[in-house]
Amino acid sequence: MVNKNEQQANLPWVEKYRPNTLDDLVSHEDIVKTITKFIKEDQVPHLLLYGPPGTGKTSTILACAKMLYTPAQFSSMVLEMNASDDRGIGNCQGANINIREHQDHI
Ligand SMILES: Nc1ncnc2c1ncn2[C@@H]1O[C@H](COP(=O)(O)OP(=O)(O)O)[C@@H](O)[C@H]1O
Ligand SMILES: [Mg+2]
Repeated sequence: MVNKNEQQANLPWVEKYRPNTLDDLVSHEDIVKTITKFIKEDQVPHLLLYGPPGTGKTSTILACAKMLYTPAQFSSMVLEMNASDDRGIGNCQGANINIREHQDHI
């Protein structure tokens, strides 16, 4: 069985060095400040982050999810879909059913 250190060592750098918290993100100060306020006030609206690849959209939202959910909740509350691979209607319908049960942050 592969232990946690080996798993970490074998991660692609994009995951290994992904910022873990909103404070670790470089730049985007206004966005980070606004999102932190939303989380502190427990008023997170639906968000659409846009921008060129590799600018921190996924990292931002994963850092938010880590603030909102415990590690135990994380896998059931966070669904990561990659539009490059998973864009068939089947993927969307399946995701919709699971997420609708929670009606939380989509
Ligand atoms: N603003 C940022 N601050 C720190 N690291 C970043 C930032 N944007 C991107 N990165 C680095 O680039 C990698 C890919 O970023 P990612 O959040 O997946 O980009 P996007 O979702 O916008 O395509 C991250 O793992 C991280 O190492
Ligand atoms: Mg992304």
